[in-house]
Order: sequence, then C-alpha cells, then structure tokens
Amino acid sequence: MTTLPADRSAHSPLASLWRLRSYVRPYAGQLVTMLVAALLGVGASIVVPLVTKTVVDGPVAHGQRDRLVPLALLALALGMTEGVLIFIRRWIQTTATLGMEKRMRDDIYAHLQSLPPAFHDRWQSGQLLSRATADLSAVRRFVGFGLVFLVVNVATFATVIALLVRLDPLLGGIVALSLIPVIVVCARFERGYSVVSRRVQDQTGDLATSIEESATGIRVIKAFGRRRLMAEAFETGAREVYDTQLAKVRLRATFWALLDLVPNATLGIVLLLGALAVGQHRLTLGGLVAFITLVLQLIWPVEALGFILASGQEAATAAQRIYEVLDSRPEIVDRPDARVVDDSPGCLRFEAAGFTYPGGRRPVLQDINLTIAPGETVALVGATGSGKTTMAGLVPRLTDVTAGRITLDGVDIRDLRLTSLRRLVATAFEEPILFSASVRENVTLGTPDATDADIAAALSLAQAAFVDELPWGLDTRIGEQGLSLSGGQRQRLALARAVIGRPRVLILDDPLSALDVTTESLVEKALARVLADSTALLVVHRPSTIALADRVALLQGGTLAAIGTHSELMADVPAYRAILSQESEEVQSR
Ligand SMILES: Nc1ncnc2c1ncn2[C@@H]1O[C@H](COP(=O)(O)OP(=O)(O)OP(=O)(O)O)[C@@H](O)[C@H]1O
Ligand SMILES: [Mg+2]
Repeated sequence: MTTLPADRSAHSPLASLWRLRSYVRPYAGQLVTMLVAALLGVGASIVVPLVTKTVVDGPVAHGQRDRLVPLALLALALGMTEGVLIFIRRWIQTTATLGMEKRMRDDIYAHLQSLPPAFHDRWQSGQLLSRATADLSAVRRFVGFGLVFLVVNVATFATVIALLVRLDPLLGGIVALSLIPVIVVCARFERGYSVVSRRVQDQTGDLATSIEESATGIRVIKAFGRRRLMAEAFETGAREVYDTQLAKVRLRATFWALLDLVPNATLGIVLLLGALAVGQHRLTLGGLVAFITLVLQLIWPVEALGFILASGQEAATAAQRIYEVLDSRPEIVDRPDARVVDDSPGCLRFEAAGFTYPGGRRPVLQDINLTIAPGETVALVGATGSGKTTMAGLVPRLTDVTAGRITLDGVDIRDLRLTSLRRLVATAFEEPILFSASVRENVTLGTPDATDADIAAALSLAQAAFVDELPWGLDTRIGEQGLSLSGGQRQRLALARAVIGRPRVLILDDPLSALDVTTESLVEKALARVLADSTALLVVHRPSTIALADRVALLQGGTLAAIGTHSELMADVPAYRAILSQESEEVQSR
C-alpha cells in the first residue's frame, strides 16, 4: 500500500462518505426533485397491478366491455407518466451530479496547489491522479444513482409489502420474511467488499504512477535499455489490479446470485400457496394476478440492491481516499496577522537558522548565521549534498526553518504574507521546470503583467536569443516540461523567469551549470547588472561565477564554516580551496 500511515484517514469509509455532504448540500433541491420523480415513477408502476386486478375481477370476470376502455387508458397514462418522470430524473441527475463532481475536483486541485513540496515528495503523482479522477467518478455515480435508488427501493419495499399484506396477510407475511436472508447476505457482503474495493483503488493509483513515470522517464529507460524490465514491472502491477478486480467481481457475482435467489424462491412459494388460496376462495383470481405482479416488481429492487450497495461501498472508500488528500494540512500558510509588504530594501538575514527534513535523523542545516545587505551578492559554496538547495528553498518558504529564523528587513519572513514574500523573492532552481505552455507564459509565470519589452530584456540578459529562432518565437509552445528544448536553453528560460520582475531578493540555485563557457560568461556579464540592484544568494560551483559575488559563504557539515571574500577564503580556508579546485578540474575535463 502506498499511502504512508500518517496520511491514512482516521475516518472510516462510511464516515468519509458522510463528510462529503457539504458538497451535496448545494444540490439538495435537485436531489429531492430527483427523488420525488423517482418515487412517483415507481408509484405509477405499482398502481398498474392494482388496475390489472380491477380489470380481471371486473370487466374480465363479468364481461363488462364498457369499463375496459377507461381502465386501459388509465394504464396507458400511468405508463407514459412513468416514462416522463424517468426522463426528468435523468435530466436533473446529470447537471446536479456533474456540478458536484466539478466542485470537488476544483477543491482537490486548489488544495494540492496549497500543499508544500514536502507533501508532493511523499505522495506518488498517480495516487493523486486517481483520486482526482476515478474516485470522484465513483462518488458521483453513487450520489446520482445509488443514493436515490436506495431511498426509492426501500420505499418500494415498504409500499409493496404493505399492499401484499392487505391483499393477503399470510402470503404478504411470507414475502416480508424473505427480506431477512437479504439483509444477512447484504451485511456479510459489505464487510468483504469494502476491503477489496479499497485495494483496487490503491493499486490503480500505483499503476497510474508507473505509467506516469515511464512517460516522463522515457529517455533514461531507453538509454539504459530498461524497457523490458520496466515492462515487466508494469505487467506485475497490472496483474495485481487484474487479480484484485477479478476477486472483486467474483465477490459481487456471488452476492448478486444469492440476492437473485431470494425473490425468485419467494415467487415460487407464493405461486403455490396463492393457487391454494384461490381454490379456497380466500383470494380472488384478480387478487392473485395482482399479488404475483407485485412480487415480480420486487425482483428488480432486490437485484439493484446489490449494485447499489457495491457502488455505495466504492463511493465510501473513494471518499476516504479523497479525504486523505483534503485532510493533509498545508504546513506553510499565512499567519493570521501576516503583513503585506510592497517594497523593501531587501536585507536578508539568517539568524541561527536550522532545518531538519521531516523524519530526518540529523539536521541538514544548523546554526546558520548570515546577513546579506541590500544589493549585496553572496555566493554559497559547498560540496554536493551539503544542503545548498535546502538553504535556498528556505528563503521563499518552500520549507520553513525548523530552528532559528530568517528575516527580511528585520521582519521574520513567516510574518509576511506569502504573496508579498514571493513577490519580493524570485528563485531559479537547479532543475529548470518549464510547463506545457508558450515561452511567453513560462517566462512571465510570476509576473503576468510583464510587457514585451520586459520579456525581451529578461531574455537578452539570460542570453536566450534562441527564442527568436523558434517557429513562433515567444508564442512557441514548449512540450511537457519543456523537453523539446536543450538543458541549457531551459536553464536560460528559467533564469529569465527569475530576473524579469527585477526582484528585491534573488535566489539562484546553480543557474548556469548547463551552459558552455562562452554563454556562461555572457550571462554572467548581464547578470552582474541585475545583481547590482538585488540582494542575492547565489549557489555556485564554478570559480568564474563566484566573481559575481561580493562575499562567499562556505557550507560544510550543515553550517557556514567560513564567510568572507573569495580571496580571503582562498588564502585562509583549505577546505574552500579544495572544493573549488575539484570544481575547476571538473570544468576543465568537460
Ligand atoms: N526532500 C528531501 N527529503 C529528505 N532529505 C532530503 C530531501 N532533499 C534533500 N535531502 C537531503 O538533504 C541533504 C542536502 O541536500 P541538498 O539538495 O540541499 O544538497 P545540495 O548542497 O544542493 O547538493 P547539490 O550540490 O548536489 O545540488 C542531502 O543529504 C539530501 O539527501
Ligand atoms: Mg542542490
């Protein structure tokens, strides 16, 4: 099972289903109309056997032809009414339940967006995908159909049995008793089905993850000749889903067969005893016809009960899975009294800041003290895995410090509105993620009101002249995650995106690593102009990029081991010299 115990819902499937009522409430009026239409429809169909009784005992038994026509017209009218009512119910059902599904999906999406990267690190994307699609549909099917017919069928049972008892108390009593085995079978089924239906839903999520990963990782899979292995792994996952689905269908089939047996066996008994009752003149012939027709009308509701309970169970486990996502709280949110700040000089300070990953045994960062003055650029240098990316992510609050604090102009960044903070702080990450959208949309992601001149300036700064050569220039759509661009091209677009708004604080995580030496030095020259106005933290590996910085901080053993100018550190800190010489050897050997 893929959900972590921490993410498992504390609520049972049924309780989770009940929690969804807030989504159903706006459609309560429509649901009631659906219910009334369904009840009236069933009512019309129940009256037909009574009309039949009147026909058999009256016009048929006594040859009264003149009474036959109005009764036949009545039966016809009843049939037509039923048809119209079914149409009305279906019509309302579609708009109401699709509307409800849309609201839930919008909420899930908005919620996923509000969750921190740590949540997405923990959850497989396929699990989220299956919850936002298949599970929602299961809920919609139940609310639109199962729930309505659960009520309608119970009402049908009650009405039909009352009518049967009135027609003949003994036979009616037998039919009523036949409900006991139905209830027993249903109760047993519910327990088993809940478990398999949850398993199918979880495994479907795993399978979706596996498809997604093979699509995004296709280059690696092919390059390493892993196609067969991946196919085998997928086959195993697919087989698991198949086996569980089969077990689920078998369980359902046995249940439905048992359910089917009860009304048919009852029908046999009733036929026998009914014929005897007619012989003893306890029941008229018309009464027997009506009785049998009414019992026949119970067969479908009993059979449908199987379907309804199965769909209810699926909806309940789906609701549980949906709430596992909705219940995970976004840890990084605005404090109630968070401040709106439009502009700031941009003095960034780490004050004894520390960070431990959730579940991590040791802190990745501890006791970080660093002040970056407005307009100053500090380069962050450290061995791979030393925590540079982690430290960079603390400033835009992708994760929050777990010790100490970070301030911007003396204000704890947790006391600033997130929107304010993220407007002041721009970031370019190690992995330049681009979206399936135009170059323009990708570059102006954080600054939707940027003008064409702003875009041109940012692109020229990032040495991204290649955009002019794309077939539709700025409007060229780049593929999923920008795969149709080279690594260096993607990196330059990500850099343009970071600098376009002329942010107060600029966090660049190794932004030039994929560029050749010539392009790198061109970008550096242009970047120097931007850095003059911004407070910047620059994660760098290459000595050439360090020249952009006023000071350098060396991250070692989870803390800042040395801070000073490049020449000071070169002179005094052997570890710094060692790291830089390794890096430059790597650059030279490329
Ligand atoms: N999401 C995460 N959950 C748990 N541990 C993590 C997570 N991300 C990173 N780490 C751990 O934190 C440490 C610091 O990682 P980080 O990515 O900050 O290093 P880095 O200095 O940026 O390395 P590089 O130079 O290779 O980019 C590593 O030991 C890594 O294993
Ligand atoms: Mg890193």
